[in-house]
Amino acid sequence: MDIPFVDFRREYRDLKKEIFLAINRVIASGHYILGKEVEDFEQAFARYIGVKYAVGVGNGTEALHLSLLACGIKPGDEVVTATNTCAPTVSAIMHSGAIPVLVDADPLSYCLDVSQAAKKITKKTRVIMPVHLYGQTADMGLLIRLAEKYNLKIIEDCAQAHGAKYKNKMAGSFGSSGCFSFYPTKNLGALGDGGMIITDSKEISGKCRLLRNYGQKKRYEHDFLGFNSRLDELHAAILKVKLGRLDEWNKRRREIAAEYKSGIDNPHIVLPAQMGYAYHVYHLFVARVKSRDYFQDFLGKNGIQTLIHYPIPMHKQKFLPGPAGSGKSFPIAEELAKEIVSLPLYPYLTKKETGYIIKIINSYQPGK
Ligand SMILES: Cc1ncc(COP(=O)(O)O)c(C=O)c1O
Repeated sequence: MDIPFVDFRREYRDLKKEIFLAINRVIASGHYILGKEVEDFEQAFARYIGVKYAVGVGNGTEALHLSLLACGIKPGDEVVTATNTCAPTVSAIMHSGAIPVLVDADPLSYCLDVSQAAKKITKKTRVIMPVHLYGQTADMGLLIRLAEKYNLKIIEDCAQAHGAKYKNKMAGSFGSSGCFSFYPTKNLGALGDGGMIITDSKEISGKCRLLRNYGQKKRYEHDFLGFNSRLDELHAAILKVKLGRLDEWNKRRREIAAEYKSGIDNPHIVLPAQMGYAYHVYHLFVARVKSRDYFQDFLGKNGIQTLIHYPIPMHKQKFLPGPAGSGKSFPIAEELAKEIVSLPLYPYLTKKETGYIIKIINSYQPGK
């Protein structure tokens, strides 16, 4: 059996009719940038999360970048975030002029370890940016207490957490803003790039609206140095169709995760933990195994594609400035980087396929 990591064609076959209608509506409208479709989707997404405002932007990286600028970050300010994330979290911080201060991972949730974050706070710290990794939030209770103690803002990286909850409250609704990506692989994915900033602050949403559109208040009046970072009408129309399916898809992701957890029984494989506080939406199902390369190769030979999210933590990446990138110790993140492996998990995976994956994993024996 051949099982790719994800097969978008299945979703397309399911949604074909509605997506075609949405695409045709946009084409026929003759209006392709910042129109009714983006407004409608922004309102629907804000309602879904339970916040007042949503601002569609070009991608998740820009959602983080514009959020940082809108909350007044200045060159030399420090932003505390996780080292075990992907590059865009940290590049958004650096593009805002701030210095990324990296924190090790919690050994259970794999999200940023809040007790480690507390040790990294200095007079220059302005923002904590938790990354709700793999579909599960960081410990927002502890994080909010820490932010209140030092008067810090929270900007949530929700690129992997559409519909995830911390104690029944939606990811993205805790911070001064929540930042989403609609990259195609995400739990809510476009047919290209897209992103969203959500917030309860009129001021932040207003600034983000200007920043995404050349800093333009009225046509040709530019109060701010802005960018071109807009969600397209076409993507907004498609995303609105898909938003209607998000809860059902997340439920299916959780069912598949439960199948893996009850079916995989191999002492060499460590399964991911679901924290007591979390409604986990399993953007990724990340297991751990000591001889990871051998395991990946074994699954590959049996037709099962796996990926690594992520093999190199940020403190080892060359684009980071010296103080954040060298001489620091991140034992948990380093261990994770060597052992983690993401199994196929997307809503259209069949029971036959998950059964096959479980059977193959249970037959795995590490090499010598
Ligand atoms: C944790 C995290 N942050 C930020 C991003 C950036 O999103 P985008 O690719 O839409 O710029 C991604 C997705 O790639 C991500 O997974």
